[in-house]
Amino acid sequence: MNHERIVGTAVPRKEGREKVTGKAVYVDDMVLPGMLYGATVRSQIPRGRIKKITFETSVAWSEFVIVSAKDIPGKNCIALIGDDQPCLASDSINHPEEPVLLLAHPDRHALRKAVDAVSIEYNPLPAIFTMEESERGSEIVWGTDNVFKTYLIQKGNVDDVWSRADYIIEGEYSTGAQEQLYIENNGMVAAYDAKQGITVWGSLQCPYYVHKALMALCDLPAEKVRVVQMETGGAFGGKEDYPSMIAGHAALLAMKSGKPVKIVYDRAEDMAATTKRHPSRTRHRTALSRDGKILGGEIEFTIDGGAYATLSSVVLSRGAIHAGGPYYWPSVRIRAKAVATNAPPHGAFRGFGGPQSIFAMERHMDRIAQVVGLSPVEIRRRNFLQPGQTTTTEQVVRELIDLGKLLDRAISVSEYQTKKQEFAIENGTGATKKGIGIAAFLHGAGFTGSGERYLSSVVGVEGCADGGVRILVSSTEFGQGTKTVLCQIAAEALGLRYEDVTIAQPDTTEVPNSGPTVASRTVMVVGKLVESAARGIHQTLKLSGMLGDSYSAEEFRAACQAYVAGHGQLRSWAQYDPPPDVFWDDEKYRGEAYAAYSWAVYIAEVSVDLTTYSVSVNDFVALQEVGRVLHPVLAIGQIVGGVAQGIGFALFEKVIWQQGRMQNNQMTNYIMPTSSDLPPIRVFFEELGNVHGAFGAKGIGELPMDGPAPAIVNAIEDALGVRFDSIPLMPEDIYDAITARSLRGEDEVASVIR
Ligand code: MOS
Repeated sequence: MNHERIVGTAVPRKEGREKVTGKAVYVDDMVLPGMLYGATVRSQIPRGRIKKITFETSVAWSEFVIVSAKDIPGKNCIALIGDDQPCLASDSINHPEEPVLLLAHPDRHALRKAVDAVSIEYNPLPAIFTMEESERGSEIVWGTDNVFKTYLIQKGNVDDVWSRADYIIEGEYSTGAQEQLYIENNGMVAAYDAKQGITVWGSLQCPYYVHKALMALCDLPAEKVRVVQMETGGAFGGKEDYPSMIAGHAALLAMKSGKPVKIVYDRAEDMAATTKRHPSRTRHRTALSRDGKILGGEIEFTIDGGAYATLSSVVLSRGAIHAGGPYYWPSVRIRAKAVATNAPPHGAFRGFGGPQSIFAMERHMDRIAQVVGLSPVEIRRRNFLQPGQTTTTEQVVRELIDLGKLLDRAISVSEYQTKKQEFAIENGTGATKKGIGIAAFLHGAGFTGSGERYLSSVVGVEGCADGGVRILVSSTEFGQGTKTVLCQIAAEALGLRYEDVTIAQPDTTEVPNSGPTVASRTVMVVGKLVESAARGIHQTLKLSGMLGDSYSAEEFRAACQAYVAGHGQLRSWAQYDPPPDVFWDDEKYRGEAYAAYSWAVYIAEVSVDLTTYSVSVNDFVALQEVGRVLHPVLAIGQIVGGVAQGIGFALFEKVIWQQGRMQNNQMTNYIMPTSSDLPPIRVFFEELGNVHGAFGAKGIGELPMDGPAPAIVNAIEDALGVRFDSIPLMPEDIYDAITARSLRGEDEVASVIR
């Protein structure tokens, strides 16, 4: 094979032309003959029993199709990891916005009035809204103790370290809910016929999650459920579980009416009813030696799961495993817990628990630095994980990562030291205070622990009649570049032109289950399988004598055409086989948590205006080691987008909860950063490669969500000398803290125990 490299170059996006010319078909563009529109009647209370449902007579109800829990042919649940979440509440209500009834009508505009004309009477029950209330257990709203899941990670004997510690430093940190705010709201179209079963088309991340949920809900065998992903306008984890709910609703309406049904949420419904990032609380108690080395520590990580278990157990496990950051802990005890409250279930959002526990770790690191009397740079340098050492789950770091070198480079490109000195002088006078902050972190690629082994993903590559090849995967494109990068990988593996490779639309009747498009797994895990399935095509052509070891793209094309003409089909499959050196103990929660980690050091520069108390991020350096960068433009895009969402997480995006319901479910009062709120985001890569990933790639999607918030809040503390341990950090919080401090007339005294 002698050809130009495709991997590592910025080829045009596969779906880019269709998107910019408006040809791409999103679910709301679909119109099927006789199609009805569906809407959802939701609970207005956080907890109680349904007493009575009344249909006001102002509406011509005979024109509507009405579905209740009684119409469900199978099990009334959204099957995911467990099946505790009902598709439609029949009796008990456990959170506001819980679906109770479904309506369908040929006129989209008739629906809103009809939804309002359904009145539900309840026998209300006491509800709980905070993790603390849930833990106190004054009301039990889930199971026997309000606890969805716990994990215990133990390494060494942490009980021994306290007596020989020179410092014991405690801290408590919390993060808020965050809405994914993809550009395209959630939506589904469903059609039913008795012979073919149910088909849904929608905006989604995980076709086979929806497939599994519909089989259980509709009581249909696998071959009678078909799920097709339409062009999807963003997801960020927000289309990982809830699309199964909407698909279920559309399917139930389609089955009852015998007509295709479309359900598309407007922004207000999408924000109020679908999943958000889990709010979290992390407590650290850390033992250190005089020279600032971590001896051991206890970490308690708690997340608010909302009313049903959904994905909380896996968000919790990722958060717990990332809670120790990129540091060496000789001993540690991490207790993690997901608790129930009467809010809509929280779910997947880019980072998946990592941004929560890493916020705590990186804020705590700055606190440790102050107490020990070292700089934020030096405290990190002294504690960084080194190759050969073990993580908190006792995974040996086999990657040749040099975090100290990463830190040096980030310090240098951000001019950290110079700025530190400048700001110290400038901040003496003036109503604007400047600061600079660091976060160092890691993010594991792929499913946690045994996850990839259980998923056992399958990928296909097909040689086509025209001589090109086509990739068959359930991995979905939602703006991040799945199609482009997987096609680059297949083209590179076979020595073809990028234009000769296409990728099938994810349709469960066409593509195998290559797992969900989540967990920063697509390029590393699925990409590796695409590479090997692609090589299988060459193998077949070679064994049939039609192609040698080295060939031109034209020769491949001719051989492929001839093979398909002669045999009818040319297909090659690859299935995930866990690397032999990856071992995970599900019981002890110990071992190789991830086949590879990406590593990063981010540096944020901020100014705080002491007239308005608003924070501006003025400069941002994002340096990461993500293995080989397969597409430089898409990779930079991932980092820039993640940093922007991280800035929102830290400074702007605050969900106002009222009795478990999001009150500010509009983009006018839930504020996300716009381009005018963003600093120059300067992206740098180190590329060490990765034996487990396609052409050396690791995961990149979630990593950039983890570091911005702690780097920014560290910078704010640097600017003001005031500690903030909770995000989102709003101007009013800064005002309160500064006023409180000047009222006390003193600086904060660090609560060092010893
Ligand atoms: Mo995700 S947050 O693993 O889609």
